[in-house]
Amino acid sequence: MRQLLVVGNWKMNGSRASINSLLDDLLSAPAVAGTEVAVCPTYVHLPQVLELCASSAIAVGAQDCSHMQSGAYTGEVAAVMLSEMGCRWVILGHSERRQYHAESDALVAAKVAVAVEAGLQPIVCVGETREQREAGEAQSVVSAQLQGALKGQVNLDSLVVAYEPVWAIGTGLTATPQQAQDMHECIRGCLEGIEGIDAQATRLLYGGSVKADNAAQLFAQPDIDGALVGGAALKAADFKSIIAAA
Ligand code: 13P
Repeated sequence: MRQLLVVGNWKMNGSRASINSLLDDLLSAPAVAGTEVAVCPTYVHLPQVLELCASSAIAVGAQDCSHMQSGAYTGEVAAVMLSEMGCRWVILGHSERRQYHAESDALVAAKVAVAVEAGLQPIVCVGETREQREAGEAQSVVSAQLQGALKGQVNLDSLVVAYEPVWAIGTGLTATPQQAQDMHECIRGCLEGIEGIDAQATRLLYGGSVKADNAAQLFAQPDIDGALVGGAALKAADFKSIIAAA
């Protein structure tokens, strides 16, 4: 049985004040039994969020990490620094990293390796563009991203995969529950073929305009094990409704 997981990706949003108020609201809500919850703020907000979430049921993650262990990489943050601080999760290969920072599958693979070695649980993001879907290439694109990021990794027991169709991110367009389920089934099949991965035990999250009113239908699909939530994770009421739908 895979435990549902709802992760808030706050992207480049938030101030000390807005985060205090958001977490104040989230932490006052009772934990939902059987559902794991995590939030991923910017690097600079991690200490504040870790302190506020300490001894709560909400885990904390980062939105990225360096592909290197340490050294002369100005502006980068090492996976081991994040785990030392108390982060449990790290989002890797988000489409915004691929789009604005030209991250390749090989770079994502290197980040997965250092993250796992540092004891972080990676949330590896995959997803096709609208053009790729319209060309009938969605499944082959996603399979190639998975192979590129995961093949040959040493320990993927804690792996989570997030399917985030690029055309659904921040657009208000959500994949239909059936479109999402079809891709999740394809992803699980693809994971079966990668050595060292227990595909049945690996949690697959859906991301892309998840809202309070579409979450329950998505979570009802057999291969959807939770959500990676962007915009709706910044509003306590919306995020709480999504968690409740799980
Ligand atoms: P939205 O929920 O704002 O569409 O963002 C999804 C996302 O990119 C989460 O990582």
